[in-house]
Amino acid sequence: MAKERLVFLSPVDPPGAWRGAFEKAAPDVDFFVSRGEMPSPETIDWAVVWRPPAGLLARLPRLRCVFSLGAGVDHILIDPDFPRHVPLCRVVDPYLTSGMSEYVVLHVIGHQRNLLRNIADQAAARWSPFLPRQADETRVGILGLGELGLDAARKLRPFGYHLAGWSASRKTEPGVESFAGRAELGAFLARTDILVCLLPLTADTQGILNAAAFAALPRGAAVINAARGGHLVEADLLAALDSGHISGATLDVFETEPLPATSPLWRHPRVLITPHIASMADPRTTAVAMADSMARLRRGEPPLHQVDPAKGY
Ligand code: GLV
Repeated sequence: MAKERLVFLSPVDPPGAWRGAFEKAAPDVDFFVSRGEMPSPETIDWAVVWRPPAGLLARLPRLRCVFSLGAGVDHILIDPDFPRHVPLCRVVDPYLTSGMSEYVVLHVIGHQRNLLRNIADQAAARWSPFLPRQADETRVGILGLGELGLDAARKLRPFGYHLAGWSASRKTEPGVESFAGRAELGAFLARTDILVCLLPLTADTQGILNAAAFAALPRGAAVINAARGGHLVEADLLAALDSGHISGATLDVFETEPLPATSPLWRHPRVLITPHIASMADPRTTAVAMADSMARLRRGEPPLHQVDPAKGY
C-alpha cells in the first residue's frame, strides 16, 4: 500500500524541525515540504499549514484533515475555497500556552510598572525615580478566556491584579470576573486598566480594538494585542495614544506583516513592538498531537482540537 503523505506548507515556520518531529511522531507518513507548488495533489492525505495559498487545499481530493500551525485558524478560513467538509484543527500545545502566558505576564507587568517610561528616561540619560502603581491597584482585562486567556489569568493571579475576562459565553474561573457577549463589553472595558487581546479573529471580533473600545477604557489604560492584527484598528490606536487617553501599547501582530518600515507604530515612543513571536507551537509536542489526531481519524474518531469553521475557533 502506498504511504500516506503529509504536506507541510508555511512561509514562516522552518520545515527542518517539523520534519524531524514528524519522522519521530509519524514515521510511516511521508513528509513533503511545499512552497506553494503541489505536485501529485491526489497523493496528499494530511496538510499542516500556515497561510496556505487560496484554493490550494481545495485541490487535494484525498485530504483527510487540515492542521493549523497556530492556535488561530483565521489564516486558513480566509480562503473562500477552503474545503469545509475536511476536518480543521488548531494547535493546543503546552509550550504555546505557557509561551503566551509568559508574554502576557511580561507585558502586563511592564505596563503596570511603566517600563515605557524607564525606556524613554534611559534614551534621554534621565535619572527620574517614580513609584509604580501597585498590582492590587491595577485591573487587568483579558479579551478571550479560552485555552490561552485562562492560562494567562491563572499566571497573573498570584501578583494580585484584579482580573476579568470577556468571552462569548460566561466562564467560572476563581478570581476572574466573567463578562460575556457584546452587551457586557462596555462594562468590561470600563473596569480595565490593562487590556489584553487573545481572541480568535472572526467576523465578530474583527476590529474590536477600535476608537469606541479605547474611549470605553479608563484614561491611562494600556493595550496589549497578542492575537491578530485584524483585531486592531491601528489608526484608532495611534489617535488614542496621541490624545493621551491610552498610555501605551504592546503589539505583536499587525494589519500588515511584516510591519512596513513606514508604519508610525515603529517609532511611536509609547508602543512596544514584537514581530509576531509572542508564542509558537513547539514542533516536538505539536507533531505528537497531530499524529494522535491522524490515528484517531484512521479509527473513525474525531481529531483533537477540531474547529467549527462556522464559528472560526
Ligand atoms: C500564532 O499566531 C498562532 O495562531 O498560534
